[in-house]
This record gives sequence, structure tokens and C-alpha cells, in this order.
Amino acid sequence: MIVVKANGYGHGSLNIAKHLSDEPGITFCVFTIQEGIELRREGINNPILIFSRIHKDWIALATKYRLWVNACHQDDLIILDQFHKENGNCPEIHLKFDTGMTRLGFDPKETKKVIKYLSEHTYLPVNGIYSHFATADEGDLSYADSQLKKFNRILDICKHSGKQFRYIHCSNSGAVLNLPNSLFNTVRIGILAYGIAPSDEVTMNIDVEPVMSFCGPIVNIRRVEAGTQISYGGVYKTTHSTNIGVIQTGFADGLPRPWYENGYISYKGDPYNIAGRICMDQFMVDFGDAVPELGDEVLIFGKKDEDHIPVETIAKSIGTTTYVLLTAIQGRTDLVTI
Ligand SMILES: Cc1ncc(COP(=O)(O)O)c(C=O)c1O
Repeated sequence: MIVVKANGYGHGSLNIAKHLSDEPGITFCVFTIQEGIELRREGINNPILIFSRIHKDWIALATKYRLWVNACHQDDLIILDQFHKENGNCPEIHLKFDTGMTRLGFDPKETKKVIKYLSEHTYLPVNGIYSHFATADEGDLSYADSQLKKFNRILDICKHSGKQFRYIHCSNSGAVLNLPNSLFNTVRIGILAYGIAPSDEVTMNIDVEPVMSFCGPIVNIRRVEAGTQISYGGVYKTTHSTNIGVIQTGFADGLPRPWYENGYISYKGDPYNIAGRICMDQFMVDFGDAVPELGDEVLIFGKKDEDHIPVETIAKSIGTTTYVLLTAIQGRTDLVTI
């Protein structure tokens, strides 16, 4: 399963889905029903699983667009059963158990009750069971191990009751890297599929490259004197005569504003400091005596030609996560697929 929710982690969900749809056995995961419908309307035929809590108002749409839903509460099963009774069908269902994330999911203590309900409603199309790790990308894996134990116990109870599932999935990217016993027959990969480490606590002993290069065009260059204030608040003042470039990318495009304090871009293999606060649509770069070409692009993060700035470096520097940085890219940024 490839997680393409939130605009495919900023990479364009349709873009990613189109690239991977012909690979054997791929299911896509989205969060909202709208995200699922959008992929279907654009011709994606693979199975699509919706992570969000179901709502009775959209079960008909999920059925129409062949979207898989998750059931994480007794009420969800009742809603689906009711729909089935009224319509003679309903979307395929994955049972979600909460083994320690304390978010959506049946309490493991309810396993027998859930199985009993399903044995009394055998027509409900349950084809999967899953759970989600809270700490699989951390150095200390004791909590993740305890989650895995709980999930295995749930599977044992199901097995003893004769309940089988086509899809059993527990692992996100951190677990794929850290917990080899958690793979079952399906994994749900988000960030790793985009070539990014889930955290700086996991060893990336795996051959992946960042999929995205986030770039911005140079739209203006000017020579300024020493003592010139740059951008809002004038917090950056040049100490000598220098070339200042204006890059047409801002925080409205997903560029993290706090990065300006220690941040830099890469151009033709060299790093240049961001000069002053990042604006909504633009930011400035101190190129020193280098003379960049108007219209060229600078690399903000990713890897392109001789430029390389890992998004992980920015996340660490500004105290955020790679997930936050990637999903901030949406809407206005042009998607150029190479
Ligand atoms: C339920 C669920 N499964 C899988 C993932 C993918 O996680 P990752 O990007 O760490 O692989 C997410 C991401 O938030 C998720 O919410």
C-alpha cells in the first residue's frame, strides 16, 4: 500500500498514483473520501483505502467509487450493516485496531465481540485488518514492540475463531526499516516511498533517493551596498557589497518560514544564505560576488544535478518533521515530472 494522502505528501497524489498504478498489487491509501473520489475520477483503478472515520452520509459514494473503508468502532459496523440492508451492498471493509496510537481503532479487548458481530453478519465484506504504530521510527522500539504483540494477539484470536483476512497490515515506513517482524502480507508506506527518512533516529539502510526537488526561479538580481536591509523587519543587513537575488517562492508555496534564520539554497553546487525573512511569495538570497543567471532555478531541498539539500536537514534545523515540510507543498507549486 502506498500512502498518497495529503496531496501525495506534497508530490501530487495523482502524479504518484499514475506512476505506480501499473506496479503489481498496489493499493493506494488516502485520508478523505474526496481524495479517493478524485483519484477514481482521474482514472486510477487500483484499490483505494480511506483512513478517515466513516460517515453514514458518504457510504453510498464509497460504494459507487469502489473505495475501501475502515471500521474502527462498533457504530461503524452498524452503519455499514444498515447500509447493506438497505442497498444490498456496501464498501469493502478493513478493521482497524488501536494497539497504542490512541487514535482511531477498536480496543483490542473488543476483538471477540467484533468477531462475533462479523460471524452474525457474514455478508459484510471485511477483507483486511490493521493497526498503526506510534513510535516505529524511534531509536527505542519497546513501545512499538508492545503494539506489535497486541496486534499479534488480535490476529491469534481471529485465527482461532476461523476469521481470515486477505490483507493484514501494520507497518508504516519506520516499521519497515526497524521492525522486520511487523511486515505481515502488506505494508503501508508513505514517506519512504518518497525517498525520505521517517525520522533521524532510524538507519536508512535502504537504497532510496528523494523523489522531489523543490526549486524556485530567480526573478531578480541586484547589487547592493554594505548596510542594506533585506526583507520584512530588516533583520538581515548586508556587511559588504553583495548580489541579492529574489526567488519567486514563499511560505504560501510551502517554503518553511523559520528556515530563514539559518537557511540556505543550493545553486550550481554551492550553498548561498537566505537573506532576511521569507515572504509569502518570494524570498531573497545573498549570492555574494557570484552572478546567477536570471530565470535559473535554485534548489530549496531535494537533489538536482550537482545540488543537494536533504529535506531532513531543514526539518532538523527548524525543529519540525519531514512530513510537515512535504505536506506544506500544495496548491500553487507547479508540478514538473521528470
Ligand atoms: C494509518 C497510516 N498508515 C500509514 C501511514 C504512512 O506512514 P509513513 O509515511 O510514516 O510511512 C500513515 C501516515 O500518516 C497513516 O496515518
